[in-house]
Amino acid sequence: MLVRRMAALGVAACMAHGGLGTIGRPASLAAQGRQRTVKDGVYSEAQATRGQAAYKEHCGYCHRDNLTGGGSEAGAPALVGPIFVHRWRDQPVSEVFVTIGTTMPQNTPDTLAPQTVIDIVSFLLEANQFPAGSQELPPEIEKLKPILMTVP
Ligand code: HEC
Repeated sequence: MLVRRMAALGVAACMAHGGLGTIGRPASLAAQGRQRTVKDGVYSEAQATRGQAAYKEHCGYCHRDNLTGGGSEAGAPALVGPIFVHRWRDQPVSEVFVTIGTTMPQNTPDTLAPQTVIDIVSFLLEANQFPAGSQELPPEIEKLKPILMTVP
């Protein structure tokens, strides 16, 4: 909760200083014409399968193996469905990667390897009906920034 409040304050402070932070799209992406999104087959089946196994081990007991949430006393949110996809809409995949990597698992945050976190992100994309492709999502922030979350 504290982390979330701090993140909200960070965004507010950023806007107060006139910066758009992650809210606006970088001009370079707009200049490329068509924006790359999670609808473009950005992860592979094999990666999502690995991610599912890691999810069950590290996340499922709070967010439930079927991702509907509610498994912890603090009330873990659902990670599938309209609220999840709208919460991340138009944000770069790097935001999901960093948020999960630094705040989850809630009882032992920041303990998973980056590769495990990005595999779990690919499983979350699969579970939210975004298609698989031939390449894997890399555990690299700069490469994840140009790919935006969207709604199915
Ligand atoms: C001990 C229980 C617990 C575990 C384990 C856990 N979570 Fe959470 N998670 C929560 C709770 C409670 C919240 C809501 C409060 C918060 O965001 O801190 C949450 C929030 C989230 C959010 C929303 C964050 C946001 O900013 O909207 C995501 C995404 C998430 N968890 C993913 C994961 C993933 C992926 C894992 C496994 C790596 C995981 N969680 C493991 C309890 C847990």
